[in-house]
Amino acid sequence: MRSKLKEKFKVRRATLKDLDILAYQRREMFSDMGIFSRKEASSGDKEYVSWVREKFKQGKYFGFLIENGEGKVVSGGCLWLEEVQSRPLAKKKEVPYLLSVHTEKEYRGQGLATLVVKESIKWAKKHGYPRVELHASEQGESVYKRLGFKHTKEMRYEIKK
Ligand SMILES: CC(C)(COP(=O)(O)OP(=O)(O)OC[C@H]1O[C@@H](n2cnc3c(N)ncnc32)[C@H](O)[C@@H]1OP(=O)(O)O)[C@@H](O)C(=O)NCCC(=O)NCCS
Repeated sequence: MRSKLKEKFKVRRATLKDLDILAYQRREMFSDMGIFSRKEASSGDKEYVSWVREKFKQGKYFGFLIENGEGKVVSGGCLWLEEVQSRPLAKKKEVPYLLSVHTEKEYRGQGLATLVVKESIKWAKKHGYPRVELHASEQGESVYKRLGFKHTKEMRYEIKK
């Protein structure tokens, strides 16, 4: 049965024609998270677009975009197949890493990001990947937790200048 959300909105895969939208969602995500100002965030656009273009061509990057009834993209996120180190019994050499999840402010709280994450998990499962990883923002954490994401034991050491 089609969900009500899928009657109102359309989920589609991003193509090379969507690079500007992907860059927009990324800079909006960073500025909404308070990590970068819009100006700082947009300074990364050119490099991001060229990185995404290359990854797209290598089949290592997939975008899931949600359009409203008028065909405007209002939410989305991307899966990057990140190369991982060799590990015994591992069948896959990459881990699908979910990034750049963003929903336009006036469309939040309806389950759109949840839909993006679910589509990403579905894609990863279909292609035989055992897990999906991500780095959660404060706003995104509850969305991921509700879907079953768990904290891991990853650690980080910041090198002081
Ligand atoms: C985080 C973010 C992507 C969430 O987008 P969203 O589309 O509003 O997410 P959802 O609607 O799926 O879930 C958000 C809330 O709506 C609620 N919700 C989900 N489906 C719903 C529905 N059908 N009706 C009403 N509310 C619903 C969820 O319970 C959730 O509430 P909670 O987070 O307080 O527990 C969005 O706030 C955003 O773009 N933030 C800035 C960038 C950012 O932080 N991105 C994440 C990077 S990791």
